[in-house]
Amino acid sequence: MTNLIDGRAIAQQIHAETAARVAVLKSRGLTPGLLFIRVGEDPASQVYVGMKEKKSAELGFHSTTRVLPETTTQAELLTLIAAANADPQWHGILVQAPLPRHIDQTVIYAAVDPAKDVDGFHPVNVGRLMLGDGGGFIPCTPGGVHELLIRSGVALSGAEVVVLGRGNIVGKPMAAILLQKGRNANATVTVVHSGTRDVAGHCRRADVLVAAMGVPEFVRADMVKPGAVVIDVGVNRVPDATTKSGTRLVGDVAFAEVQPKAGLITPNPGGVGPMTIAMLLANTARAAENFLGAR
Ligand code: GUN
Repeated sequence: MTNLIDGRAIAQQIHAETAARVAVLKSRGLTPGLLFIRVGEDPASQVYVGMKEKKSAELGFHSTTRVLPETTTQAELLTLIAAANADPQWHGILVQAPLPRHIDQTVIYAAVDPAKDVDGFHPVNVGRLMLGDGGGFIPCTPGGVHELLIRSGVALSGAEVVVLGRGNIVGKPMAAILLQKGRNANATVTVVHSGTRDVAGHCRRADVLVAAMGVPEFVRADMVKPGAVVIDVGVNRVPDATTKSGTRLVGDVAFAEVQPKAGLITPNPGGVGPMTIAMLLANTARAAENFLGAR
């Protein structure tokens, strides 16, 4: 029997649920709208936003991508966000990271209306996640990992979870999600990072290990407890002379040696990646449902 967590199949389930919600919204006269904003020509961002927009159209959302030049000023971007906040055709707004260095990401994410912040990056939504009130938007990648764990039947209450990485997009919100009191969380969460003394020792205690620190194949078999659930969030481009491009993508987990030891493990690609889009579109459906409810 395979020990793989099939992120593509679980994302498909969520897409089907979201498509049904979109159909209900449309039957009530509302087409949910999602605006993507991309600044500059970062090749990975072009691919990611293209995939997100294609899927949103497939599920029946109305969506557009505004592409701004690398030279766009922070003030210009803020003006565009203010217009999108005020425009009732947009229920969700996503400003793709990374932004050019002259733009302060925290200022930009704080400018998006929290009710349209389907990325869950606005300080109000970050705060609501910490408070555990269930009403805000949860960042898509850790939200997707949570759904993978729930839908794979992983027991989280009382589990020892180790999150590798303390970034604002994955590590910190991942810890906040799993430590909440509640049936599908209630874990004992440890976040390890570059200042941690014995990373491997912490990892070896984990029932669930979430690798999100952006170091190629950092998690080796000797860091994993037999039977642990291993989730690989990493997307790292490494040199590889045998490929046409001269590079290949690897995760934060040394998959070949860790898989035989793991109870369950995400493949990479095909694990966490598809879930990010699924959660984005589920969040956008909820933003539109909230809009309709408040009207
Ligand atoms: N860049 C990498 N991941 C994400 C994400 O989840 N949202 C946005 N806006 N940008 C990203």
